[in-house]
Amino acid sequence: MAIGLIVPAAGRGERLGAGVPKALLPLAGQPLLVHAVRGALSSRVVDVVVVAAPADRVDEVRGLLAGEATELRVVRGGADRRESVARALAELPPEVDTVLVHDAARCLTPPAVFAAVAAALAGGAAAVVPAVPVADTVKRVADGVVVGTPDRDTLRAVQTPQGFRRDVLEQAHATEPGAATDDAGLVERLGYQVSVVGGHEEAFKITRSLDLVLAEAILGRRARAGAP
Ligand code: CTP
Ligand code: MG
Repeated sequence: MAIGLIVPAAGRGERLGAGVPKALLPLAGQPLLVHAVRGALSSRVVDVVVVAAPADRVDEVRGLLAGEATELRVVRGGADRRESVARALAELPPEVDTVLVHDAARCLTPPAVFAAVAAALAGGAAAVVPAVPVADTVKRVADGVVVGTPDRDTLRAVQTPQGFRRDVLEQAHATEPGAATDDAGLVERLGYQVSVVGGHEEAFKITRSLDLVLAEAILGRRARAGAP
C-alpha cells in the first residue's frame, strides 16, 4: 500500500481575516502548513505528499516545505476546495493506491489520527473519516424558525485526514463535480460505505481568530511536555 497525502492549502482564510492565506499564517514561528505536513509525516504512514497552494504562492510553498519530505509536489490550488483536491489528485504518482486528504487548516492533528485512518484502509475500507461527538445541540432551521432537532447522539463532527482507495476518490471527483464541504461527501453520493474512526479534539480546523488562541495554547503545552 503506497499512501499519498493531499494537503488542500489554497484557501484565502477569509473568516480568519489575517490578510495572508491561512496556510501561510505563522503559528509559534512556523506556517500552519508546515505544522500540518510535519504532523502528517511523523505518523510514518505517508509516502508521497502533494500540496495545493494558493496560485500565486506555489514557489514560496515549495521553499517552505523543501526538506520536509523526500517526495513532495506542490500544485496550484483551485477556486474552491474540491478543485484544489482534484488538481492534487491528478499529480499523484502511479504507485499510489491509497490517498489521505488533510486540510492544512487542521494543522495540529496528532499523528495517531493519520495512523488510525491508514489502518482502517489497510483493513479493507474504501473510505474512512475521523469523527468526534458533537458538543452543541444542532437544529435544522429554515426561514428563521426551527424545523427539526436531530438526535445529538447520532451526530458526529467530521475531521481530516479522510482516507480513500485512490480509485474511489478519483471516481468521486470525476463524476460529482458539484459543491461539497468534504471528500467523503462526494464518495457517499456514489454509494460507497464510509467507515468512521475516532478523531481528536486537537484536530480542530483553524477557522476564526479565536482558534489561533487555542492552537498557540496547545503548542505551548506540547513544548512544555517536551514534544518535538
Ligand atoms: N482550500 C483549498 N482551496 C480552496 C479553498 C480552500 O485548498 N480554494 C483549503 C484551505 O486552504 C484549508 C481547507 O481547504 O486548508 C479547508 O478550508 P477552509 O477552512 O474553509 O479554509 P479557507 O477557505 O482558507 O478559509 P475561509 O473559508 O475562511 O476563506
Ligand atoms: Mg473556505
